[in-house]
Amino acid sequence: MAQVFGPGATSLARFTLGGSLLGLGVLFVVLELYVRSPYVTNVGQPVDQPVPFSHKHHVTDDGIDCRYCHTTVENSAFAGMPATQVCMNCHSEIWAQSPVLEPVRASFASGQPIEWNRVTRLPGFVYFDHSIHVQNGVGCSTCHGRVDQMPLTYKTESMQMSFCLDCHQDPAKFVRPKDQVFNMAWQPPANQDELGRQLVAEYHIQSKISCDTCHR
Ligand code: HEC
Ligand code: HEC
Ligand code: HEC
Ligand code: HEC
Ligand code: HEC
Repeated sequence: MAQVFGPGATSLARFTLGGSLLGLGVLFVVLELYVRSPYVTNVGQPVDQPVPFSHKHHVTDDGIDCRYCHTTVENSAFAGMPATQVCMNCHSEIWAQSPVLEPVRASFASGQPIEWNRVTRLPGFVYFDHSIHVQNGVGCSTCHGRVDQMPLTYKTESMQMSFCLDCHQDPAKFVRPKDQVFNMAWQPPANQDELGRQLVAEYHIQSKISCDTCHR
């Protein structure tokens, strides 16, 4: 029978097959790095806002508590965003003529809320709830970083699935006493292993990793 493929054909076939597998492998790695890179996740990139609101000034310099503005963070899924009235409690007196605050005054006069650009936003198919985290000893800074030191707010974590799962698999590495949830400077102590395990038992925290925890 006549040979259809010459002697070189198998090695050529191997070469192209191997080559395209290698190519696919490289492409995959590049894509994986890309979706985790700051270009896509926006980690560390301050978000422009209609008013250059500074958490550093308001929280650290002026000593205002998170809950003064994010009023529902302890008891609902949504943390809550301050109404313009909340800004005007102070800014009808302080910096009342400042041009920087013109959008705040305009919003107050018209009743149109200020349109803040989102810093952290999960896709619609992910369910999240602030209150359950706050009530189980997960601090703001674990997920949002040192917001109290930010002149303009930015993300410190990717908020991708792996970030959520890292903790859901072993919450003891991260939980803190409930009265430290709003303490932005809290750091895990040297005995976090032990403390974490105690708190997990005391708060009855379970490791929730089934898909329908977050995808309902
Ligand atoms: C005086 C009011 C005020 C206080 C106090 C305040 N915030 Fe905010 N916060 C805002 C405003 C206004 C925005 C929207 C502008 C921005 O993103 O910086 C915001 C945005 C945020 C965001 C980003 C939300 C998003 O778009 O995803 C986080 C996270 C946040 N605040 C956390 C905190 C934490 C933690 C504290 C306490 C340490 C705190 N805030 C205290 C007013 C406040
Ligand atoms: C409890 C009082 C208080 C509230 C409420 C408040 N501010 Fe302020 N704000 C201040 C003080 C005090 C300053 C002066 C800044 C400083 O500490 O030097 C200031 C400064 C500012 C500035 C000047 C820019 C800068 O350097 O930070 C902006 C802009 C501003 N506030 C926006 C807002 C917005 C928007 C809100 C509502 C979400 C708000 N503030 C709510 C007290 C307040
Ligand atoms: C377990 C991680 C986690 C913790 C802890 C956490 N947040 Fe968030 N926060 C998020 C995520 C994720 C979003 C985006 C939610 C979305 O897009 O649906 C968010 C959004 C926000 C927003 C925007 C409004 C909203 O609810 O979407 C504010 C303000 C905020 N967080 C403040 C806080 C404050 C204050 C604390 C501490 C009391 C805190 N967060 C604790 C993960 C966390
Ligand atoms: C640092 C730790 C930590 C991180 C990060 C974290 N979680 Fe959680 N999460 C918890 C703890 C603790 C609970 C409470 C578990 C319990 O009640 O047994 C919880 C509970 C939940 C619940 C409620 C589960 C239920 O059965 O009601 C949802 C939904 C959730 N997390 C979603 C998320 C999402 C989405 C992210 C990422 C954006 C995230 N979490 C990041 C610690 C974390
Ligand atoms: C603790 C919360 C949590 C749990 C549990 C979880 N996911 Fe996710 N998942 C997320 C978040 C947050 C995102 C959004 C990631 C982003 O924005 O890039 C996501 C995204 C996804 C995506 C979109 C692709 C991607 O990676 O962004 C798929 C598919 C997915 N999840 C499947 C699953 C499956 C299957 C399970 C169960 C084995 C699961 N998830 C369990 C939080 C969770």
